[in-house]
Amino acid sequence: MSAETPPILALSGVSKTYGAVRALSGVSFAVGRGEVHAILGENGAGKSTTLKIINGEVDPDQGEVRLSGRLTSTAERAQGDIAMVHQELAVFPNMTVAENIFVGRMPRRGGRIDFARMRARAAELLELFGLQIDPGTILGQLTPGQQQIVEILRAVESDASLLILDEPTSGLNNLEAETLMVLIRRLRASGHTILYVSHRLHEVLAIADHVTVLRDGQFIETLAAAGLCEDDLIRRMVGRNLEPAATTASATLSDAPLALKIEGLTMPGAFTDMALELRRGEILGVFGLEGSGAEDFSQAIFGIVPPVSGRMELLGKPVTDLSPAGLMRRGMAWLHPNRKEAGLYMERSIADNIAAPVLKQLSRFGMVNRRATKARAQEDIRRFAIRVPGPEGLPKQLSGGNQQKVALSACLASQPEVIVLNEPTRGVDVGAKAEMHDAARREAAAGRAVLVFSSDLPELLRLTQRILVMRSRRLAGEVQGTAMTEESVMALAAGNR
Ligand SMILES: Nc1ncnc2c1ncn2[C@@H]1O[C@H](COP(=O)(O)OP(=O)(O)OP(=O)(O)O)[C@@H](O)[C@H]1O
Ligand SMILES: [Mg+2]
Repeated sequence: MSAETPPILALSGVSKTYGAVRALSGVSFAVGRGEVHAILGENGAGKSTTLKIINGEVDPDQGEVRLSGRLTSTAERAQGDIAMVHQELAVFPNMTVAENIFVGRMPRRGGRIDFARMRARAAELLELFGLQIDPGTILGQLTPGQQQIVEILRAVESDASLLILDEPTSGLNNLEAETLMVLIRRLRASGHTILYVSHRLHEVLAIADHVTVLRDGQFIETLAAAGLCEDDLIRRMVGRNLEPAATTASATLSDAPLALKIEGLTMPGAFTDMALELRRGEILGVFGLEGSGAEDFSQAIFGIVPPVSGRMELLGKPVTDLSPAGLMRRGMAWLHPNRKEAGLYMERSIADNIAAPVLKQLSRFGMVNRRATKARAQEDIRRFAIRVPGPEGLPKQLSGGNQQKVALSACLASQPEVIVLNEPTRGVDVGAKAEMHDAARREAAAGRAVLVFSSDLPELLRLTQRILVMRSRRLAGEVQGTAMTEESVMALAAGNR
């Protein structure tokens, strides 16, 4: 970069405090025009806060933000040539897909909104991701992944020269994530600058020109991405070498009692003839690509969408009340794949959230024992290294990854015998992921049974002893032991063998 062309973005000495939490202290770095610049750091390191300051949503306590060399105020940046895709969806569920894409700048013709043009352009954009969705569809009817794509398309359509993407792929399937990579490269080629945050380090290495590392709210360094490997990034994020990830010993569990048995479970249109046997002490994985039926199967197991035929036995007894409440009473817990939708009560304290499933157990004479709730929360905050101001804080004050940790501890708080985890480590950093995997292993070692649905295949390979693979809405096969590799699972899931 020559001296005459200042960087498109430069932060210097930026600090932000929330109450007692110092989210950022004295952060300074610069981003060159036309590059993809990744910001990396553990959960709670300050990535989203940095991005919101750049986007003019959050006012820093101190420091300067320059755009192309010019000092800017927060209000100016909010109005400026910057578009952001948020880590937690920021969409309008009651408006149509087209309205969501064009919100605030709908095309006009003769003073009126040009709906025809809007719909045509929206359809074109959706086609980029191969989505055959009518732009007139109400957004709330789409899956969370599709809603995320709509939010990405809104940013793309704004044609802002600085595009900020905060974990845009966390809700996307692999194919959609790859499409986004192609789109980002195309945007870069046409002169856009992209700020990118993701815990999927291979994505970062595939796409970033530079990487800026934050740790505990402080700037660590900015480096060129070329030649770096995932371990280099991890070391810089955590400031130490991580122990090699533990893998789960594949003990023979064939004599352990059955915790969950499913036979001939069928839901027309969703899945057919599903079966599984899960024993105490076992961690069993279920993997399927988008449209394989794995998601529906998981919901059916918890009675969210009741299957039409089949049999289920929980801890040796037939399930007669196949409903979430009925199953929870019988010792099952189910971690929701989307923490914001149903995993957490955003307006209740962290302590209440962790205790929610056990409020009955903790309350005597119908009164909640606040001290017990708080003590339990404090224990989990320590166990999972949740970065919080305290148990009385609200989940919405936590970073995304730390919210996910609260959701998992809430799920485990009722001491369930059968634990169904859906996308347990979405948006969670590498270190915290290892801690959450350890927690699942501890549950299994204590004789509980764990069933994991995850689209993160490396996670399943590391965590589970056996993986059931679904394809075309039925069971495609099962892999275990040394046969459990990325290739063998993908071959079953994609059907090319
Ligand atoms: N509105 C808020 N009120 C109080 N504390 C906040 C608020 N927003 C963020 N924080 C705190 O600031 C710190 C940095 O949070 P931030 O969301 O920037 O982290 P992050 O790096 O994006 O993490 P993640 O990878 O989990 O998304 C965290 O300790 C968080 O709890
Ligand atoms: Mg964040």
